[in-house]
Amino acid sequence: MKQIVAIDGPSGAGKSTLSRALARRLDYLHLDTGAMYRAVALAAIRAGVSLNDTEGLDKLCAEIEIKLREKPDGLVVLLNGEDVTELIRTPEISMASSAVSAVSEVRGHMVRLQRELGAQGGVIAEGRDVGTVVFPNTRAKFYLDASLSERARRRYEELREKRADNTLEQVRAEMEQRDKNDSARSDSPLMAAEDAIKVDTTYMTPEEVVEWIAERVKELEKG
Ligand code: DC
Repeated sequence: MKQIVAIDGPSGAGKSTLSRALARRLDYLHLDTGAMYRAVALAAIRAGVSLNDTEGLDKLCAEIEIKLREKPDGLVVLLNGEDVTELIRTPEISMASSAVSAVSEVRGHMVRLQRELGAQGGVIAEGRDVGTVVFPNTRAKFYLDASLSERARRRYEELREKRADNTLEQVRAEMEQRDKNDSARSDSPLMAAEDAIKVDTTYMTPEEVVEWIAERVKELEKG
């Protein structure tokens, strides 16, 4: 039976690379919950809604439409029908998404949508609270982590490929700040579920992580 696979952990732990590869290999939807908070952040900035305006963000979330589409090249994120896949990957949106994701009203809207998308199973749900809050009853729970230096190095390399001019020190400082925000907020902080399998990816290649987790999901699919 197709599973709901929960992949949580801090930024740079390897969640996205793993989730993309797993979704492709198992023919599941990559339910990228972080992309949804990023789309909310972009919509808020465009609409001039302040990132701590609880009421404004609540109203905005009720009005916007976020869709995820699995395409051969990867996941496409649609905000009111517009492809915003690339636009939501800037450092500015990273920080803004961390801010809007601390607002309970925003989380309420997103968690509802995430549960709808995952209701039938067959999803690789990637985020911070998937195993603890969104799908607490799923058996396929993984928590990825790696050292801060390694996570910052990975994100720095990713940004360099996109020709961004951030220094490694900047990337590391922003990552540390974002981890603090995501772990310290009162509503659904970044946390490993008690029954999650913890995977330290510091010294693992992406392929090793995919192999290891795909095997476990296949076992669970057998029932
Ligand atoms: O995984 P990401 O970097 O794309 O996520 C962007 C932000 O969204 C991150 O700083 C924390 C937040 N987030 C969250 O609060 N809950 C989730 N399930 C996923 C992301």
